[in-house]
Amino acid sequence: MRTKIVVGNWKMNNTIAESTKLASELLAQLGEGFSGCEVGIAPTFPALQPVGALLENGPVHLVAQNCHYENDGAYTGEVSARMLKAVGCAYVIIGHSERRQYFGETNATVNLRVKKALSEGLKVIMCVGETLEEREAGVTGAVVSSQVREGLEGIDDISDLVIAYEPVWAIGTGKTASSAQAEEVHDLIRTVLVKLYGESVASAIRIQYGGSVKPSNAVELFAMPNIDGGLIGGASLNAADFAAIVNAAR
Ligand code: PGA
Repeated sequence: MRTKIVVGNWKMNNTIAESTKLASELLAQLGEGFSGCEVGIAPTFPALQPVGALLENGPVHLVAQNCHYENDGAYTGEVSARMLKAVGCAYVIIGHSERRQYFGETNATVNLRVKKALSEGLKVIMCVGETLEEREAGVTGAVVSSQVREGLEGIDDISDLVIAYEPVWAIGTGKTASSAQAEEVHDLIRTVLVKLYGESVASAIRIQYGGSVKPSNAVELFAMPNIDGGLIGGASLNAADFAAIVNAAR
């Protein structure tokens, strides 16, 4: 039985003050003694430390939105996995479609980042997903399979990996994949993992769905056999909505 995992990706939103306020509201919504699924929130880099201080020893993980594949050096504007680990992050999101679309991330750079993050002791949420053009061209399966294969190239141990399937056409657009459409791709991802790592490893890996998840559609999505939680963008910026989505996963 896989424990569901729900992570709020705050993207480039909220000052430090707004971030700590939102994190406090979320903790209040989840309540004392929260359990039943894994939860994380991913603020911007400047807010990691103050939000992390609020989350310390609690049930909500601190998550980062990206990391570089070197420990340090002349990489202006980047942050390393080692630094994220030191600030208290448990997870890092790697290969989000916005990173691929706007910042030139490829399967090869995703692979380097995943390797580095895992070797520094961070857990990784590796994002995959097809664009609208790819879906309409009927190549969703081929695109997502190569994102998984190339992203995991040379990685033997994936016990600290979560995969997030996020169809690009569903992110921030209000268009959610139907639960059947999402399940079809989740099942395909698990089949790729079985080929790469064998049945028992593949059956333990969580595969999150992301793309316009809301309180109103979370229950149906999370009920699918291969959907093990969600990566939540817009709805994670409201504590009540995010808590409702978390409750749908419990
Ligand atoms: P969304 O974003 O929930 O706003 O569609 C999801 C994501 O990009 O992780």
